[in-house]
Amino acid sequence: MDYHDLLAGLGEGSAHPGGFEATVQLLDSLSLPSRSQILEVGCGTGRTACHLARHDYRVTAVDLHRGMLEKAVRRARRERLDIRFIQADATALPFPDDRFDVVFVESVTIFTRWRAALSEYKRVLKPGGLLIDREMILSGRKTEIMSHKLKQFYGIRTLASINRWKRRLRQSGFTAITVHEHSRSMGRWGVDHDPYREMDMTLLEDERVQRMSGMNDRLLAKYGKRLGYAVIEAKVPLRNE
Ligand SMILES: C[S@@+](CC[C@H](N)C(=O)[O-])C[C@H]1O[C@@H](n2cnc3c(N)ncnc32)[C@H](O)[C@@H]1O
Repeated sequence: MDYHDLLAGLGEGSAHPGGFEATVQLLDSLSLPSRSQILEVGCGTGRTACHLARHDYRVTAVDLHRGMLEKAVRRARRERLDIRFIQADATALPFPDDRFDVVFVESVTIFTRWRAALSEYKRVLKPGGLLIDREMILSGRKTEIMSHKLKQFYGIRTLASINRWKRRLRQSGFTAITVHEHSRSMGRWGVDHDPYREMDMTLLEDERVQRMSGMNDRLLAKYGKRLGYAVIEAKVPLRNE
């Protein structure tokens, strides 16, 4: 069992800094035009995708993890929402160029080969389209052992500072890069009630889960102070820009 199997099993609905409340606040502040075509990359158990669909957006959502997607599909069915869910890799999106108005990502790009992911986000966005990405960032010193341990346990492939992410987005062809939220710490993740959470109860007695929970606590105690998060918005230039 890896970290994402654990999240999927626990049915975690908002596995990102700030939790669901931060997502709702962010979307309120963005006021995206209604009926926008939105692609959520790394949708997990589909809580954000459902929130978007409830607010009159046309939503497509992808995730690599089958268990996550199964729960996402059931969540949308229970809420009677029309969302297209597809099992796909952020670095090889199964969509034509210029397909979406918005690509929405929360705590996913750090687990991918970032160059390929950013290039795919840009390719599937229409000219003028918007990328919104909330990711854990590096806010202190990084050591090799820290990168190794975070990769080994969480599967994190890239940990970069906010300025480095901005450079990466620029290099990938994005423009108008703005930071919506930036915190040098991971902050508190509000625990809120997710009415459609599906938790595999057997996990509560699984020794592997207890071991993983202990490891999670130890890693956060050791490295948490060097980790923060940011929400970055970036635009695909219009053809004449
Ligand atoms: C920390 S969880 C966040 C899930 C969801 N965005 C949320 O905020 O609850 C990371 C998600 O990214 C997915 N993921 C990781 N690597 C991926 C990839 N290369 N392509 C698509 N999804 C990926 C995982 O399966 C998992 O659902």
